Amino acid sequence: MSNPIFDKTDQMLAAIKSASITSLEELETFRIKYLGSKNIIKPLFAEMRNVANEDKKEFGQRMNALKVAAEEVFHTNKSTLSQAASKASYDQLDLTAPPASQNIGSRHPVSLVMNRIINIFEKIGFAVEEEREIEDDWHNFTAMNTPEDHPARDMQDTFYLKNSVTNLLRTHTSSVQARVMTSTKPPIRIIAPGRVYRNETISARSHCQFHQVEGLYVDKNVSFADMKQTLLYFAREMYGPDTKIRLRPSYFPFTEPSAEMDVYWGLESEADYRITKGTGWLEILGCGMVDPNVLKNCNIDPEEYTGFAFGMGIERQAMLQYKIEDIRLLFENDVRFLKQFNSAY
Ligand code: DAH
Repeated sequence: MSNPIFDKTDQMLAAIKSASITSLEELETFRIKYLGSKNIIKPLFAEMRNVANEDKKEFGQRMNALKVAAEEVFHTNKSTLSQAASKASYDQLDLTAPPASQNIGSRHPVSLVMNRIINIFEKIGFAVEEEREIEDDWHNFTAMNTPEDHPARDMQDTFYLKNSVTNLLRTHTSSVQARVMTSTKPPIRIIAPGRVYRNETISARSHCQFHQVEGLYVDKNVSFADMKQTLLYFAREMYGPDTKIRLRPSYFPFTEPSAEMDVYWGLESEADYRITKGTGWLEILGCGMVDPNVLKNCNIDPEEYTGFAFGMGIERQAMLQYKIEDIRLLFENDVRFLKQFNSAY
């Protein structure tokens, strides 16, 4: 039995299927008409109450078929049109046009300096050891011969992890010495670059996070002269072939004897006076012969083996090299600052 309302759905279905869509504008018109929030299919639902009970099911199915058909027509046309559009833009490609310049990033000045230091030591056989920044107090202090009552252990200087008296953020890369010596047999020849943390007030001169490179050489018959020659080689690679160094006696719990190494910077400008406090010398690193207690703590026999170690901060060297006046710039990651190192070596 033919139902006049079915004629309406038949007509609409035919109209949907035969819609002519040749542009994106026409596609949008079609979408609004049949699929938009005020589409013309919806009002037909109101006819439901005029449909005889036995036809209601078929009516529902027809209404649904309208929606499905409209969606299908929409998607088919959409993909045809977008393929045509991309083919058109492909045909317009100018293969002779010069490439758009790429916005490449730049290395951070701390990485630049750290990589240079790593390269210098790699050339003479030091291997890079990267270790954890969250340490326990044994590796950071105890193994490094730093007594319980040493001020460095104080909460004032060290960041301890919440609810822990043993876990902390390493205060120096010397903790890597303990990590390596307890897990490897000599000969050991490593450098350990990385980030360290201290509970310092942040200012133009100091920060609560910074970077160090640690060095450790343990073998039979390693002498102070070996250390001095290695550090002279480093200073000359880093600061120029005529660089002069001096070693001043110092104290570190983990080395005996201990020294600090200065390089001669010169006193030519007012800035040189300021940077070197009027001496012409710049302190670059701490060093010394590994204290026999440290070797013992790490199960290395100090009768059989000796070693030297050194540790240096990176930020100050980066600030000197690139004439950066405020250490905070190194941690703020302001792109305008970082961009300046685009082509830096
Ligand atoms: N760990 C020391 C510091 O943070 C630096 C240092 C000094 C490291 C002497 C060493 C060393 O390996 O022998 O100030």
